Amino acid sequence: MSGKFWGGRFKEETNTLVDQFNASIGFDRRLYEQDIKGSMAHCKMLGEKGILSEEETSTILEALVEIKRELDHNELQVNEEYEDIHTLVEKTLIEKIGPLGEKLHTGRSRNDQVALDVRMYVRDCIQSVLQGIRNMQKSLVSLAEQNQDVLMPGYTHMQRAQPVLLAHHLLAYFEMLRRDRTRFQDTLGRTNVMPLGAAALSGSTFDLDREMVARELSFDAISRNSMDAVSDRDFVLDFLYSASVLMMHLSRLSEELILWSTQEFGFASISDAFCTGSSIMPQKKNPDIPELIRGKTGRVYGDLMALFTTMKGLPLCYNKDMQEDKEVLFDAADTVDACLNIMASLLKSVSFDRERMSSAIQTGFLEATDLADYLVRKGLPFRQAHEVVGKMVLFALQEKKELRDLTLAQMKTFSRQIDQDVYEWVDPSLCVKRRELPGGTGPGQVKERIKEARKELEK
Ligand code: ARG
Repeated sequence: MSGKFWGGRFKEETNTLVDQFNASIGFDRRLYEQDIKGSMAHCKMLGEKGILSEEETSTILEALVEIKRELDHNELQVNEEYEDIHTLVEKTLIEKIGPLGEKLHTGRSRNDQVALDVRMYVRDCIQSVLQGIRNMQKSLVSLAEQNQDVLMPGYTHMQRAQPVLLAHHLLAYFEMLRRDRTRFQDTLGRTNVMPLGAAALSGSTFDLDREMVARELSFDAISRNSMDAVSDRDFVLDFLYSASVLMMHLSRLSEELILWSTQEFGFASISDAFCTGSSIMPQKKNPDIPELIRGKTGRVYGDLMALFTTMKGLPLCYNKDMQEDKEVLFDAADTVDACLNIMASLLKSVSFDRERMSSAIQTGFLEATDLADYLVRKGLPFRQAHEVVGKMVLFALQEKKELRDLTLAQMKTFSRQIDQDVYEWVDPSLCVKRRELPGGTGPGQVKERIKEARKELEK
């Protein structure tokens, strides 16, 4: 049968431009495993309900297994003659077993079929992203562990602010990734709902066992409204949003790696294996990989915006616009997987210049907050302490000195409360040790967080 499944009411041949323009087979062939699995579950259920005989059921199932094998091995011609993957599988089935194959679509529409396939596909994508997040978290924890004692400036407004541990900085990304994981798990919960049985839009005249199909395909639940089931692409948007936030996190880390490996910062170095050179400037070693991750973030945001815009004006139920959900989904899924994968490896290759990082806290008055806290301990209200230290910083700047270089007599002109014990408080290398409160950058806290993170990753 070379004609269309829907050819009955048409008098004219389809224009070849329409065939090409309308077809999704070029990209949705990637759903073949999901499509065949879904068809097998539907077929078994039709058998169970007596809509197909036992023999019919097993003949169809065997043929579907064969089609899957042929697609696995690229043995089937996939061209625009088949509108989409659903048509390809069904037509191939009919070619193989004749008119019996024409019974498979009983009680089903491509509308619920495609919703099913995409849900199964998103489910698989989420598993893969979760694995990728885990690998990246492992790399971050290892880096934090190896650099537990390295001090560095923490920044706000990109100005030196207060000393922190490098490990604390790295573990901040661990936390972001943990939230990303929960976002994807959340998405999985809403994705894992089985739409088959909605048929075109209103359900079916057949007494389909939807619960059985859900069990067969490991869905947690069945959809509760047939019109919603074939109209909804929220779960794809959830995935794209989760992917966008994840990419934003990867992009910020990338930006820091790029910055830190400049000569100006000189904090970090990405190994040669993860850098590239210039075709004209022989000395160059460029951080292309983090740059590309930063760049690809824009394209994942684009995928999200594209589908948002596609969906916003659609009346219920299925509209062909929705075929546009696939390329953005595939693009985002591929991009996120690739970025997570390479970032997890690249991180293992990063080395830090401990000396340079630690010495960067010596200038820039990163201990000024601690000095204000010292004055509070001596009885000054914080606002006054802040003012006093501000004046001391101004004085030190004019004298081209650090706070620790001022004499006690000089310091006392700013506040009579200042004593000899002040010098401990103007040593920036002691600042992190004072921050052993939960969530702070104190070495004990950070050590504890590393332990917890390790435990979490073992689960
Ligand atoms: N290729 C279509 C899509 O991806 C499948 C559903 C088509 N349904 C229809 N009634 N034309 O959205």
